[in-house]
Amino acid sequence: MPSILETLNAASSAALADMGFPEKIGQTRESDRPDLAPFQCNGAMAAAGILKKQGEKSNPREIAQKIVDKLDGHPAIAEMEIAGPGFINIRPTDETLTARAIELQNDKKVGASQVKAQTIVIDYGGANVAKPMHVGHLRSAVIGECLKRLLRFQGHNVIGDVHLGDWGLQMGHLITELKDEQPDLTFFDESKLEDFPDISPVNMDDLARLYPAASHKAKSDPERMERSRLATAELQAGRPGYRALLDHFIAVSIAALKEGYGALGVEFDLWKGEAAVDPLIPGMIEELKAQGITEEDDGALIIRVATEDEKKDTPPVMLLASSGAVLYHTTDLATLIDRKAEINPDLILYVVDQRQALHFEQVFRAAVKAGWYKREQLNHLGFGTMNGKDGKPFKTREGGVLRLEDLMSMMRAAADKRLSEAGIGADFPEEERADIANKVGVAALKFADLQNQRITNYIFDPERFTAFEGKTGPYLLYAAVRIKSILRKAKDQGVAAGKITVTEPSEAGLVLALDSFDRALKSATEKFAPHLLCDHVFRLAQAFSRFYTDCPILAGETPDAIKASRLALAQTTLRQLELGLDILGIEAPERM
Ligand code: ARG
Repeated sequence: MPSILETLNAASSAALADMGFPEKIGQTRESDRPDLAPFQCNGAMAAAGILKKQGEKSNPREIAQKIVDKLDGHPAIAEMEIAGPGFINIRPTDETLTARAIELQNDKKVGASQVKAQTIVIDYGGANVAKPMHVGHLRSAVIGECLKRLLRFQGHNVIGDVHLGDWGLQMGHLITELKDEQPDLTFFDESKLEDFPDISPVNMDDLARLYPAASHKAKSDPERMERSRLATAELQAGRPGYRALLDHFIAVSIAALKEGYGALGVEFDLWKGEAAVDPLIPGMIEELKAQGITEEDDGALIIRVATEDEKKDTPPVMLLASSGAVLYHTTDLATLIDRKAEINPDLILYVVDQRQALHFEQVFRAAVKAGWYKREQLNHLGFGTMNGKDGKPFKTREGGVLRLEDLMSMMRAAADKRLSEAGIGADFPEEERADIANKVGVAALKFADLQNQRITNYIFDPERFTAFEGKTGPYLLYAAVRIKSILRKAKDQGVAAGKITVTEPSEAGLVLALDSFDRALKSATEKFAPHLLCDHVFRLAQAFSRFYTDCPILAGETPDAIKASRLALAQTTLRQLELGLDILGIEAPERM
């Protein structure tokens, strides 16, 4: 089922091939001047360039005329016009638009094509047990969730893994601080080897208190720091009581994170972390040593990964510190082994803060050197920071802490204010009204994040994010809700959707927007760029808004057949809009 653009593209490419030029210069694409025509073919200029190189006569407007003559009478083309130096503007026929609209209406995925499915792991979220979250974790969750849904929607087998940070010094801090508070817990009894209590000695509030307390003390007190280090080393060496405590810390953190991420509509398939792959590390080190790619360096065990052509050498991967401690590189490499054994993915995407680019470059090179993966199977998708108005990474609390709950309540409050200003939902039941404010808040935050190019920084501004006008999440929700309300009204009036017939320019505009869904999905996927899908849904909502202004659907004087056609267009738009929003991780309320 080709899109309209694909049909036109095939025709213009064939025309140029027919004239003896390479097919690829004959491409038709979306026009830079949609006010003149939706599509354009610039092949005449490229063809003239080729002729000129060969020393032949080359007038691009004349070539354009020849192309137009060849395409003349094509059933999908209503009008062609040669403009400027030789652009060909192309407008499709209403019949083509109508036929395509009906195809989209009847397609379960409203035009999205299926791809050859791959198995893909997305490593995102990446929160640390007990350590406070920062904006990097938030953005990772929002972007990673969108990429997961995007790839899944296209038919890939996608596994999302939160990859918790649960194996570092923060664990030693927690253990020692808890020991100072409650030295009699059986977890600290060195002679005890098993049967530790099933009930956690701490809850999330305890963790949130213990970690900063310990880390604060350790900063100015080397002896305190040493105790945390030692406890970390003992834990990593397998001390049973500490291991049992770790399991509680992890379980308590996961429960809290599930709630926090869940409120944002972010769900993981795997809740693995660094600790989970610890048992693989000794074997991995042996294998790497046997391969002869490790080196001893000042007591540490490293893998050199610099290449000859680098201006500045990429520093080596640290497998073991001179103290014997396992490092961030080590757990990421062990995770690669684990994923290969358990999932054997075609591709692994790491949605992590751009500041970790070097870390991943090092890890990937080592994994390739070890022969576990091909370089193109490993991809770090970095992103910039969400900043506060002061230009620094955004925090919700004193002490540099971002709390998802605080963030969400700020978003809900901003959404609530907007709803009140717009007089929306004043007479709705309280629960529904709260649900709407929540959905508007989530949509505002996510869309504000996803619509940027991944790598750019942006400023947290709930006021702007929640505006109902402009390129915002709430604008899109409003568009969806408006269509829902039209569909409800139609039902009440006994009007049913029927055969689509496109005649009006803004109907054509809407069908062209619908027709570009697959293109948007493909380019968003190719570049792992959610903002391209954001652009599409925004454009679709705008096209609907123009259509709705120009083409009354249920007005009394509208003939029945036209009502039915326009209603079908509205219905199809809603389906595609909701699919697009769902991929972005955004849910629209029933009414507002
Ligand atoms: N826990 C890490 C951090 O807070 C992020 C983990 C990212 N994923 C990974 N496989 N390293 O920085």
